[in-house]
Amino acid sequence: MNSDSMQRVAVVGVGGAIGEAFCRALLDKPSIQQVFALGRHPAPLAEISEKVTPVAVNIRDEASIQAAAEHIDDNHLDAVIIASGMLHDDAVSPEKRLAACSSEAMHQLFDVNAVAPLLLSKHLAAKLKRNAEAKLAILSARVGSISDNRAGGWYAYRASKAAVNMLIKGMSIELGRQDKSLTVVGLHPGTVDSRLSAPFQANVKPGKLFSPAQSAGYLLSVLDGLDSRHTGRLFAWDGEEIAP
Ligand SMILES: NC(=O)c1ccc[n+]([C@@H]2O[C@H](COP(=O)([O-])OP(=O)(O)OC[C@H]3O[C@@H](n4cnc5c(N)ncnc54)[C@H](OP(=O)(O)O)[C@@H]3O)[C@@H](O)[C@H]2O)c1
Repeated sequence: MNSDSMQRVAVVGVGGAIGEAFCRALLDKPSIQQVFALGRHPAPLAEISEKVTPVAVNIRDEASIQAAAEHIDDNHLDAVIIASGMLHDDAVSPEKRLAACSSEAMHQLFDVNAVAPLLLSKHLAAKLKRNAEAKLAILSARVGSISDNRAGGWYAYRASKAAVNMLIKGMSIELGRQDKSLTVVGLHPGTVDSRLSAPFQANVKPGKLFSPAQSAGYLLSVLDGLDSRHTGRLFAWDGEEIAP
């Protein structure tokens, strides 16, 4: 299913830079009839277009995810894009050293970056149209690649993204047995100007810090080029596959 033909899509994490940019990019497509915008505070997005259906959700609470999913009919969506994620907050920052690791930060990042996408997929997979080349895309990160880890550090974030990559693989196998046309993939958005990357932009090479709109545009093009033959794998903003 090409994004130019998509009619109904759910985007999770619409309060985030990339999540909002996905919503806006989808709303620019003439084929789009409805965007389900899931996030903690999705109401402002509904002001952009009457095609937006805002759905409040706390992705760290399965009951909230289940209730949010009930707003969407089964066999209804062309794609689900999960663009939520966390690297730091007031209490948590990426660890430079093993000595800085804590149980709290490990649990929090695993919860937001791995458990939440799994539970969102658990409740939203049935909303995807069956046998219609539907797509389930989850924002991961290149730093979750074990083979690509040359710098060390960022233990909790790296491990939580490696974990979500494994969950994507597992879901692609199980869900692919029920619908051979389904594509389940992880996406790396590049380095994107957002709250998440703000403290870490100093060393980004010129031209390599994307606006959220740029990144969402690249990722929709990448998704357009992917089909069920690519399921279970991780792809970057430029279409390059990232090894696990
Ligand atoms: N920016 C980058 O350079 C970069 C690079 C590689 C990968 N990524 C990945 O891309 C995705 C989007 O990142 P972004 O740059 O758009 O970040 P962002 O602007 O910080 O947005 C992340 C969104 O995730 C949701 N979220 C975060 N923490 C949460 C929590 N504790 N509980 C519930 N929801 C939470 C929120 O959405 P709501 O407010 O709507 O609930 C939040 O706005 C993430 O998975 C990130 O890891 C980003």
